[in-house]
This record gives sequence, structure tokens and C-alpha cells, in this order.
Amino acid sequence: MPEAKKIMLGIIGYGFMGHEHANALEKFEGVKILAVCDNNSKQMEDVKQGVLLFQDYHEILKVQEINTVIVSVPNPLHKEITIAAAKAGKNVICEKPAAMSVEEFDEMVRVTRECGVLFTVHHQRRWDRDYLIMKEVYDRKAVGDIYLIKSQLYGVNGNMHDWHVYKEMGGGMLYDWGVHLIDQMLHMVDSKIDTIYADMQNVINKEVDDYFKIIIKFHNQITTEIELGTYYLTPKRAWFIGGKGGSAIIEGFAGEGKIIRTKHLLENVPGKITMTSSGPTRSFGPPEPGLLYEEELPKVKAAHIDYFVNFQNALNGREELAVKTDEVRRVLLFMDAVRKSAGTNETVRFE
Ligand SMILES: NC(=O)c1ccc[n+]([C@@H]2O[C@H](COP(=O)([O-])OP(=O)(O)OC[C@H]3O[C@@H](n4cnc5c(N)ncnc54)[C@H](O)[C@@H]3O)[C@@H](O)[C@H]2O)c1
Repeated sequence: MPEAKKIMLGIIGYGFMGHEHANALEKFEGVKILAVCDNNSKQMEDVKQGVLLFQDYHEILKVQEINTVIVSVPNPLHKEITIAAAKAGKNVICEKPAAMSVEEFDEMVRVTRECGVLFTVHHQRRWDRDYLIMKEVYDRKAVGDIYLIKSQLYGVNGNMHDWHVYKEMGGGMLYDWGVHLIDQMLHMVDSKIDTIYADMQNVINKEVDDYFKIIIKFHNQITTEIELGTYYLTPKRAWFIGGKGGSAIIEGFAGEGKIIRTKHLLENVPGKITMTSSGPTRSFGPPEPGLLYEEELPKVKAAHIDYFVNFQNALNGREELAVKTDEVRRVLLFMDAVRKSAGTNETVRFE
């Protein structure tokens, strides 16, 4: 097999995420970082020797050897720079959220197609360990027929930072982490969506959302819930998948958790009355000893670098891009529906 073409990379926007990319890609042989661009030269003071530096993105796009750029500038600039890069013949990996609107994104897709370049979005959280474990639970039907999936992310640092506090910059948590959590859920559940209901709040941020809860009814009868709050003051990353054959739970980004099953599954168990401090209950007392048992969650291989392994394979015609533009578009449409539901306090039909 001929040697694979490398991703000859330029990074446009060298702030938090630009640095993350440079650090993560340092050890990946499939990438060579040729140039970095940031309109604030201070951001590039730590760039390694030998890497070209630019302050104007038009200039980095003139570097012949670059075949791909990462666009990691604030959200309102994604469209302009993606289109300019495509017109310069560069493949584009754009940061999420891909665009400020579906219309913007459609234009990005149209131009990148016309220019014949690869275009994808950095939804690398599809390679998060906790997500991949739960996707495996879902794909393998490890808890039988599923009725509920919950994805929760709670934080303590309520205030957003820098440009993320401004609406016109595409700030707020729906655009920030929300887009990842939505992308994961839509990627996991292989069904159309019937309805979306969302509550969104600015708890302590003035302009932008820092809390949301989204309830999604999928056409295959699965209900899912995505909840995020930056001001929960009880940090947590958690998943729950409830199926007729058990419950799968994860707490923590590293995917610690278990599957819990019951020996009396689907049997008619005579109700035993338990007395609680709030009175008697048959359904909500502690389980009888031996009723429940635990199993390990599936083991998965999880590495964010696989996003770029896939991109390099796509560059060499060996694989399709894992993150497809129609999936990204669906996430953007979904976010519009979330805003509509939250704004009207009504359930929105989708698909
Ligand atoms: N995929 C992820 O997990 C993830 C995580 C964080 C941020 N992001 C995304 O990455 C993008 C950047 O976010 P960030 O947190 O790194 O922001 P940041 O503010 O830390 O970095 C943005 C950089 O872009 C530079 N910049 C602004 N305008 C420019 C221009 N015209 N030309 C060149 N450079 C310019 C700024 O000087 C800054 O250094 C956003 O779209 C954000 O949503 C993605």
C-alpha cells in the first residue's frame, strides 16, 4: 500500500482550542503542523520553532503545502474563514458549533462541495469514553428494550468566560457543550425524532443560557433527556440508560459505572410493604437482599485522536468522514427547535 498522505495542517485561531489541537496532534504521525494564525500575536508566543506564523488568515491560506486547516476562531467567524479556506483549495475541519445558523452552514457546505474539498466539524466528543460505553450498551441492547436515556452535565463555575458571555458571539451553553451533548444523543439513537421540549434559562449569566433541559421523544419510542447547568454547585457528568432488561449508569467522564439487573425481571412480584419516614410504600422501598445484581459495563477503546485518524483516512480515500455534514446540519436544526420550544414553552414537532 502506498504511504498515506499526511494532514499538512494550518491552525487558524490559536486560543484555547488552537492550543489544544497543537498539543493533541503533536504525537500523531498523520499530521504535520506547518503554520498557525491568530490576529493576536501574543497567542502565538509559545509556537514551536519552524512553524510559520501569520496574523491575517488570508496569508496562511496562501501556503501551498497546507492541505487542511482547522478553524478554531470564535463562532461568528467560522463561515467566513471556512469559505475562504475552501476557495483556497484547503480541506476544512471547523470547530463546533459549525455555524451561527443553518443557513450559514448550508452555504459552507455548498461552497466546500463546489471547491471539492473535505469539510467536517470537530465533534470529537463522539470519542469520549463515557459516550462510547453508553453507545455500546445501546448498540448491543445490553439492557434490552430501552425506554429512557439521560445525559447530565452539572458544573460549579456558573459564569461563562471571554466571548462566550455574548449572544452575538454565539455564546451560551447550548452552543458550547450543548452541541456536543446533542450530537452524542442524535448519533446514538438510530431513529427520527417526533418531538422536542426544552427549558432554557440564564441563571446567573446576563445574556446567554447557562441551564437547559431538553426532552426528546424519538420515533422508536425512546425518550431521552439532556440536562446541563453550569451553576448546579454539585459537579456531575452522568448517564442513565433504562431498559426492560436492566439499568446502565455512568458517573464521571472516565465512564465509571455498572449495569444493574433484577432477578424478578418481568415476573409478577408480590408487593412487599416497606415503612419509610414518609409512610408505607410498595414500589420505592429498599430492594430485598439478593434481588439486584451488578454487571460490568462494556469495555471500549476511546481516544479523541481517532477523530484525526479518521480524517487522515478520509484524506487518503480509505474511509468516509465520520462526522458528516448532514449530521451536523441536523444538530443545528435541532438547536433551533430547542430555542423555539424554550421561547414558546411548547413542544415542537421535529422530523
Ligand atoms: N470541540 C471542543 O471541545 C471545543 C472546546 C472549546 C472551544 N471550541 C470551539 O473552538 C472555537 C474557539 O474557541 P476557544 O475557546 O479556543 O476561543 P479563544 O477565544 O480561546 O480562541 C480564539 C482565538 O481566535 C483568535 N481570533 C479571533 N479572530 C481571529 C481572526 N479574524 N483571525 C485569526 N484569529 C482570530 C483569537 O485571538 C483567539 O486567540 C469556538 O468555535 C469554540 O466553540 C471547541
